[in-house]
Amino acid sequence: MKEIVIKSIIHSLHYDELSDTERSLVEQAIEATGRSYAPYSHFRVGAAVLLQNGRTFIGCNQENAAFPSGLCAERTALYAAGAQCPDQPVVMLAVAARGTDGGLLESPISPCGGCRQVLVETENRFGTPVRILLYGHREVYVVDGIEALMPLSFSEF
Ligand code: THU
Repeated sequence: MKEIVIKSIIHSLHYDELSDTERSLVEQAIEATGRSYAPYSHFRVGAAVLLQNGRTFIGCNQENAAFPSGLCAERTALYAAGAQCPDQPVVMLAVAARGTDGGLLESPISPCGGCRQVLVETENRFGTPVRILLYGHREVYVVDGIEALMPLSFSEF
């Protein structure tokens, strides 16, 4: 028997250490939390996507009384970008969230498995990694591609 150890590198930065482009994308994700429709969870999530042509798209979670019909902020943003600019690689994604008290989360938000799977597809589709910024008030997690958050992902059949 052998063990396979999987290593992920996640950079923990303070907001001030981000580049201007990164800070701007994070600000758009924070702004998008204010547009969230989350009457059931009261957990308001915002996301912002930067494409290679410089355009940005935002998304926020959209809930529904029929729970599975809702969608996360990340996928809302990625699908909006895909619908408007289908040929443009996704360069970066920023995510932020407000807890039930309305304040921005102290710790970085962690995307769900479904959104990670969509990010795998996004990278494969364009053949380029997506830099992911997970905002927390105390620290921001930065990864250079979805592999760090979704090792051994399913991508082909
Ligand atoms: N949610 C997101 O939009 N993104 C995440 O990364 C985690 C969870 C949403 C789904 C649901 O509307 C609410 O947050 C509570 O799970």
